Amino acid sequence: MSKQPIGIFDSGVGGTSIWKAINTLLPNEDTIYLADSANAPYGPKGKEIITNLSIKNTELLISKGCKLIVVACNTATTNSIDYLRDTYNIPFIGIEPAIKPAALQTKNNAVGILATKGTLSSALFSKTSGRFASNVNVIEQVGEGIVELIENGKLQSEEMKTLLKTYLKPMIDANIDYLVLGCTHYPYLISLLTKLLPSHVKIIDSGEAVARQTKAILKKNDLLNGESSNSKNQFYTNGDPEIMQSLLNSSSAVVEYLDF
Ligand code: SIN
Repeated sequence: MSKQPIGIFDSGVGGTSIWKAINTLLPNEDTIYLADSANAPYGPKGKEIITNLSIKNTELLISKGCKLIVVACNTATTNSIDYLRDTYNIPFIGIEPAIKPAALQTKNNAVGILATKGTLSSALFSKTSGRFASNVNVIEQVGEGIVELIENGKLQSEEMKTLLKTYLKPMIDANIDYLVLGCTHYPYLISLLTKLLPSHVKIIDSGEAVARQTKAILKKNDLLNGESSNSKNQFYTNGDPEIMQSLLNSSSAVVEYLDF
């Protein structure tokens, strides 16, 4: 048993979608969330830069006593989780696009995936896609510009609608029946995506699966918090705390600015 916090980091505010799933499944666990918004987006950056940013975030969370780290960013996971696991002596949970369940369930044999350039071009993504979706028509789309709009508080903007319409068109033309969200910022777009997609298209994100995996790994390592006191959740950003606060949509979650 351990009362130490779970550490979570993302290139910005998007990983709060993962934090919500973890907090729902594990309400007794303390958490520390780092939003590296000053360096967002990670998606267009190279592997070395992404790994160095992941190291910086990891070392800060370890210095704050975290017992496990959730890399709540597809781009950071696909580019740096092997290095983090080899280097630090605590468990890491990563997040990968849920291409496997989509490929297994598609009836139209056509699946769309919206993710960053860094994720779609990573070796880990091509391995997973090749392994589970080699017989499926996978329409890959880089969501260029989406993370920047979310980080700037323009979730519901006309610019966002125009971008999404462009990105979804080839997928709709290919008659997809599943859309995989391969970036933790994108679950905040679900209501907009639902309006823009044909009604038969199902949207898959990885939040609940990551929360279940976090619980399983804590249990396996005897790290669950055995006490049923209310959890303490700390949110730090090196960007604009107000934008993050509005996404968290909770007065009990207080976001603080931290220069890291
Ligand atoms: C980004 O920073 O470009 C997106 C984060 C992600 O891949 O989840």
